[in-house]
Amino acid sequence: MSRTKELGQYPTHQWAADAIVESFFRDLGVGSLVLEPSCGPGAFLAAVPAGVEAIGVDIDPVMAERARLNTGCRVLVGDFRTIELDFEPTHIIGNPPFNLKLIDGFLERAYELLPQGGHAGFILPAYAFQTAARVAGYADRWALSQSMIPRNLFPGLSLPLVFATFSKEQRRTLIGFALYRETAAVQKLPAAYREILAAVGGSVWARVIRLAVERLGGEADLQEIYREIEGRRPTSTPFWREQIRKVIRTPAAGCAQVARGRYALVPATNDAARVLAA
Ligand SMILES: C[S@@+](CC[C@H](N)C(=O)[O-])C[C@H]1O[C@@H](n2cnc3c(N)ncnc32)[C@H](O)[C@@H]1O
Repeated sequence: MSRTKELGQYPTHQWAADAIVESFFRDLGVGSLVLEPSCGPGAFLAAVPAGVEAIGVDIDPVMAERARLNTGCRVLVGDFRTIELDFEPTHIIGNPPFNLKLIDGFLERAYELLPQGGHAGFILPAYAFQTAARVAGYADRWALSQSMIPRNLFPGLSLPLVFATFSKEQRRTLIGFALYRETAAVQKLPAAYREILAAVGGSVWARVIRLAVERLGGEADLQEIYREIEGRRPTSTPFWREQIRKVIRTPAAGCAQVARGRYALVPATNDAARVLAA
């Protein structure tokens, strides 16, 4: 394999690096320190506004030297995932090689290095965000935002691309993603409940609740219903618990509140639930 392919050496054009920094890193200023973890010839280093310190890393000494000559920045040689660093970046910006394992390694290291409130932003192949579980995993520790960017930013590239920012924030917002946390949560439910949620027809959550209460002997409190539906793999996503709390109070669920947080199937729907559970 050529070195270009092996190390994913497909540099970003300067105008695009400039536009990315301008659009996504408006907060750069006094006190910021930008790290480019796979800097190549240095387009992102050169895009950092004057007066803001920027340091590069590249695994390839030839690239590192090119970046030094192109930008005048300090550039270290090594694998970003393991290289020893004597500074603490506030921002990590770049275009890592398109390899999921490597991307995850970069994100892991970025999380270790950044302070609370710090930001990482990377050009990534859209397939990094293809599955719900992968994105839900990122969203457990980062606030995430993504924007689609054109693949022909890189001549000859056939992969859809995104620019994604990962922020170390208390609130784990997901911007530019829909149904990821929900899909990840639903996939963790036991098969009987997933089947109900997949089957076409109205009031899916009402049907889920009726089956759960039926299985719990016709009466149960909310915690028991959560445990029944959750199965052996509890999820940290509040999505379906919210659905249950909302829907159990509606007539469609066919349940009556018999005590605080405790519900029983009303007789008329008991039969319906038996049919459903059969
Ligand atoms: C896609 S190029 C992008 C270069 C630069 N970020 C840009 O946008 O122009 C990827 C760069 O990552 C470097 N690289 C590959 N694996 C690396 C690693 N584990 N740690 C640091 N740099 C790496 C390659 O040598 C290459 O220069």
